[in-house]
Amino acid sequence: MLSVIILAAGKGTRMKSEKPKVLFEAAGKPMIDYTVELSKSLNPEKIVVVTGNMAEAVQEHLQDYSVEFALQKQQRGTADAVMAAQDFIDYNGKVLILCGDMPLIKFETIDSFIKNVNEKIAFISVKMQQPKGYGRVVRSSDNNVIKIVEEKDANEYEKRINEVNTGVYLCDGKELKKRLSSIDDNNAQKEFYLTDIVRDGAEAYLAEDESEFMGVNDRIQLCAASKILYKNRAEKYMVDGVSIIDPQSCYIDEGVEIGRDTIIYPNVFIENGSKIGKNVVIRSGCRLNKAIVEENVEIKDNSLIEDSFIGSGSSVGPMAHLRPGSYLEKDNKVGNFVELKKARMGEGSKASHLTYLGDAEIGKNVNIGCGTITCNYDGYNKYKTIIDDNVFIGSDTQLVAPVKIGKNVLVAAGSTVTKDVDDNALAISRTPQKNLENKGKEIMDINKAKKESKK
Ligand code: UD1
Ligand code: CA
Repeated sequence: MLSVIILAAGKGTRMKSEKPKVLFEAAGKPMIDYTVELSKSLNPEKIVVVTGNMAEAVQEHLQDYSVEFALQKQQRGTADAVMAAQDFIDYNGKVLILCGDMPLIKFETIDSFIKNVNEKIAFISVKMQQPKGYGRVVRSSDNNVIKIVEEKDANEYEKRINEVNTGVYLCDGKELKKRLSSIDDNNAQKEFYLTDIVRDGAEAYLAEDESEFMGVNDRIQLCAASKILYKNRAEKYMVDGVSIIDPQSCYIDEGVEIGRDTIIYPNVFIENGSKIGKNVVIRSGCRLNKAIVEENVEIKDNSLIEDSFIGSGSSVGPMAHLRPGSYLEKDNKVGNFVELKKARMGEGSKASHLTYLGDAEIGKNVNIGCGTITCNYDGYNKYKTIIDDNVFIGSDTQLVAPVKIGKNVLVAAGSTVTKDVDDNALAISRTPQKNLENKGKEIMDINKAKKESKK
């Protein structure tokens, strides 16, 4: 029987933040979620999260995870945190202890640790190129673990040891309880160190990959951890047939789906359960949040797609903004500086340049000219624009909603449309043009003279 204790009560002082450290996102997901999800995949009897510093925020964040919470009232060290969980744990079984600030640990590593250690108290150690900041594993001449010494308590000799404590422990419950009761705070930080449970003998399980055990204490480490997570994730997609030009600058959230032969250029963010089809091209600088993109789509540079659907064969951008509720059925074109909000475009329709379409329903094969604006808002209410199939909207048209344009309508360039237009009609609303002979030059000459008289 296995119980998991996750330590997440610490102050996170080194983050210098108003927010609990474990809620900081590493590669798009709060750090604590990685630890809780890893714990769940081990199928333990129970998971107890020790909270303290900003406990409410952490508990609220984890409310859907069905974990239990123990409160550590004062943050007096990692041993004290484990003691705070005492009443929740069945000490007849095994207890796995994890920290909430280690988002990189892999399931396989913990699984084989649990399966391969024999002693009553065991922990994972790893050799680090730069062990600074971690507790060092001090061994005797016959290689047994004598103690773990924290950076702040270490002497010069100990600081040179590169085998560190990762902060992951597997303990026999009764033995853990016994050893915890004898721990004191006689050290540099005046804290109750969990590391002291190894003093009466423990097994160090030496893991291979140091990068899995990075503990995130400050924002520099958070950034480093995120980079590794993003890169690992990108490489998984690459193995599955997605081309990523530069995995170091490709930021894909967990749970995003991407089809084969899709190409992702640098500096692209794909977030929040987005689904990308096959053979899609996403150019530099795009962000897709909750986007559904079908196959054979191209999203050109610097476009933002939020909670929207892009049907197969469509082209979006550069510099396009699809705001929530936008829906491109198929073979659409949304070009430079076009903004859509709750706008639906039927098959084969285009808005190629400089256009705002909000609260609009657009049929098939519609051409929306450059500079078209749906005037959908009167300062209080939003109104709908409906455009039927095969319509041509000339450039610089304002469609003052609510308004409905019938099938096969031609709206002349420069029109302000305030009334519904019947099928097959031409709508034109322009002030008639006057050409006044010689007047242009006359005015310019006056202006020129004014400028010169100022000199
Ligand atoms: C700890 C270990 C160190 C190890 C390193 C690995 C101790 C004394 N040191 O150091 O040997 O190399 O982790 O990353 O254990 N916490 C509480 N309550 C507290 C204090 C801490 O819940 O009173 C939690 C923190 O939220 C954090 C975890 O325990 O999740 C570790 O605490 P932290 O202060 O980060 O310990 P380190 O100095 O990193
Ligand atoms: Ca830490």
